[in-house]
Amino acid sequence: MEDIVKDTAVNESETKNDYVLEVRNLKKYFPIKSSFLRLVIGNVKAVDGVSFAIKRGTTMGLVGESGCGKSTVGRTLLRLQSKTEGEVIFDGVDIFKLSKKELRKIRPKIQIIFQDPYSSLSPRMPIGEIIGEAVREHNIVPPEEYEDYISRIMRACGLQEYYKDRYPHEFSGGQRQRICIARALALNPDFIVCDEPVSALDVSIQAQIINLLKQLQRDFNLTYLFISHDLSVVEHISDTVGVMYLGSMVEYSETEKIFSNPLHPYTKALFSAIPVPDPDYKMERIVLEGSIPSPANPPKGCKFHTRCKDCMKMCECVVPNYKEVEPGHFCACHLYNSEEENQAAEEEMKKLEEEAELANKPGTPAAEPEDEVVEDAKEEEKASETKE
Ligand SMILES: Nc1ncnc2c1ncn2[C@@H]1O[C@H](COP(=O)(O)OP(=O)(O)O)[C@@H](O)[C@H]1O
Ligand code: SF4
Ligand SMILES: [Mg+2]
Repeated sequence: MEDIVKDTAVNESETKNDYVLEVRNLKKYFPIKSSFLRLVIGNVKAVDGVSFAIKRGTTMGLVGESGCGKSTVGRTLLRLQSKTEGEVIFDGVDIFKLSKKELRKIRPKIQIIFQDPYSSLSPRMPIGEIIGEAVREHNIVPPEEYEDYISRIMRACGLQEYYKDRYPHEFSGGQRQRICIARALALNPDFIVCDEPVSALDVSIQAQIINLLKQLQRDFNLTYLFISHDLSVVEHISDTVGVMYLGSMVEYSETEKIFSNPLHPYTKALFSAIPVPDPDYKMERIVLEGSIPSPANPPKGCKFHTRCKDCMKMCECVVPNYKEVEPGHFCACHLYNSEEENQAAEEEMKKLEEEAELANKPGTPAAEPEDEVVEDAKEEEKASETKE
């Protein structure tokens, strides 16, 4: 496991300094409590062991169906919520090991932009104050340079300086997203999580905001994690792409490679739904059968097996390795198993069958996994309470 995490996170030939962010085996479980006695009776495994790294000045796209854990990855790596397990290394330091004071110091460097710009802007504050509030709080510039600085940031985001005294309701959706971007940019960040930043906007406005984000990336050497369910947008903006399914990363590669040669059956199905602007092109759309299973009770083995048209017997009980199938192209699917992996999977299947047979024999006491879950969840809750 260690090796897999290291491989997917950082290419050994590159220095650690090339990467702004490294996420290692990140897990975030939300406890499910019973209505009676508020006992923890299970967990929603929103993020279940995700690893990736993002190079400085580049964009990683994160895609997958709604509910697969994209936003939870974004929020957890910014430490806006506690983690269950794993590490998030930002500029060489594990942000979960920072004290509150240290975290406050690093906060301006990691920012987030949300889908709905209206609800994240205070309706009673003028734009200048919205953009500048945290600039003053974190002493980003000396007081005498403050006004000029805010004007400069606004211009960089395509906003007129005289908008400073206006209120959010006076602006269109696209302009409001520019205000959110300006507010994040004003803190001089290194890394921005863009969580569906254009999903609520008209298509023509989407292109303008994407172009603005790309321009700012070039001008300020920014690094983005770009979360979206819109694959055309992700293809346009990202250098690398990660595909998530039910809390796990199932495929990761450079954008060009993953779009031209998707490996995982889930990625293939997702990508087959991208519209192609050519009337003569015959699309072979792969329709995903059934709905996405609940992350509170994910399928055993490969989590995608309940919807996969290539499902084999081993997929139903053995978890596929997340491994480098071709240089820089990672995938978790038994279709790409080596001889040894197939052998190991066969042995694991046999062992599981034997265990199941033994458990079904009359007189064998039934296992009580629920107790374990309650204990684990309690531990996690306790840990997060003490950390926060
Ligand atoms: N605060 C929370 N409490 C309980 N469950 C949550 C919470 N936030 C997210 N979830 C659950 O975690 C899963 C992943 O959610 P999310 O990260 O928002 O997915 P995505 O952004 O990919 O649509 C969903 O099943 C969602 O219901
Ligand atoms: S491991 Fe099996 S079920 Fe999972 S994606 Fe690959 S072929 Fe499909
Ligand atoms: Mg989301």
